[in-house]
Amino acid sequence: MAGNNNHLKSLNRTYLAKTAAGLEEILRDELENLGAENVAILKRAVSFEGDKAILYKANYHCRTALRVLMPIEQFTINQEEDFYTKLKSIAWEKYMQPNQTLAIDSTISNSIFSHSHFVSQRAKDAIADRFRENTGSRPSVDLDNPDLRINIHIYKETVNVSLDSSGESLHKRGYHSVNAEAPLSEVLAAGMILLSGWNGQTNFVDWMCGSGTLLIEAAMIAFNLPAGQFREEYGFMKWPNYDSELWEKVKREALDLQRDVDIEILGSDISPKNLKAAEINIRNAGLHKDIVLKVADFRDITPPDGPGVLISNPPYGERIQVDDLHNLYREMGNALKRNFVGYKAWLISSDHFALKLVGLKPMARITLYNGQLECKYTGFDLYQGSKKDYPKQPPV
Ligand SMILES: C[S@@+](CC[C@H](N)C(=O)[O-])C[C@H]1O[C@@H](n2cnc3c(N)ncnc32)[C@H](O)[C@@H]1O
Repeated sequence: MAGNNNHLKSLNRTYLAKTAAGLEEILRDELENLGAENVAILKRAVSFEGDKAILYKANYHCRTALRVLMPIEQFTINQEEDFYTKLKSIAWEKYMQPNQTLAIDSTISNSIFSHSHFVSQRAKDAIADRFRENTGSRPSVDLDNPDLRINIHIYKETVNVSLDSSGESLHKRGYHSVNAEAPLSEVLAAGMILLSGWNGQTNFVDWMCGSGTLLIEAAMIAFNLPAGQFREEYGFMKWPNYDSELWEKVKREALDLQRDVDIEILGSDISPKNLKAAEINIRNAGLHKDIVLKVADFRDITPPDGPGVLISNPPYGERIQVDDLHNLYREMGNALKRNFVGYKAWLISSDHFALKLVGLKPMARITLYNGQLECKYTGFDLYQGSKKDYPKQPPV
């Protein structure tokens, strides 16, 4: 038995899951729950160790991972030419055939290179030259749907070369065929829900649901559907070591983890057009029987009885203009106090001043980024009694 364990251990590798700023701890928890080992938080990333099954599970289950990289080489460079030479010395034939396609994503900071595009170009030249010299033919570039996606990260003199096991970014879950205005990324939406501590066992409301991202992510969490439920392709499927039986096993095991819950998930929006987008996306996800949708102003929403959580992404006035944004936030505070007793409410906004106008003492305030916009994700506790007490004795 000990021998078997040793054999399994030898298959372990280090991986790097990338995420958005502010979601690192959530991603660490997700990876630990999957059985990943030596999980460590880095800047906008989490490193972990595991075997191939853990790699497949990380891609399939992690709601807050953007992509999962497998580092294959690290080296230092003192001049530009070193980069080409060292990249060419990597045994690329272990990872791809010359008739396949590749794409290279590069990021640089404080390095001798000043353009990441140039780095990708030089890396492509090095790989192509190696194949041409050894085999007479060379892989070509396909930026949209490559057979192998390579990630290069250069910090000062240190170069990290990784293979991207995800392929397309994992925020592309596969259910979003229609966008409303300013949709949230699926990874940010899932991260917001998990940060709120909602466990999928109480009612869920988004009263400005737009294209329905928060509703769909909430339902997937409640029913324990894997993040990749609706996705057909991952980068690792084109790797020479792809184990389709193991992949089928990972998917089968996920079926056993699904659960039924007796909760209400309610989405509403004032815009019939946006609500239509939500309806289509929810149908794409096969969740139309589980989520109730309504065209309504948020002021008119009476939620199902608490306990429950409202999580919403109101207009910030950045991409969506509203006549009186500040009044909108004051009115949100009033509607929360009036109609949402027994709920927790979480709002994300880049307008920090407007969030103060909600007029409720926050129980939590977390910095997150919606695209480039620095936002405060702010939680309020509308506990029983808060209506009459507020704002004299806000919860601490
Ligand atoms: C930033 S978008 C939400 C995007 C959504 N999270 C998504 O992923 O697609 C804000 C939404 O608030 C809605 N909205 C604006 N004013 C509203 C109001 N008074 N009542 C309800 N919804 C409103 C807009 O129609 C828009 O869909």
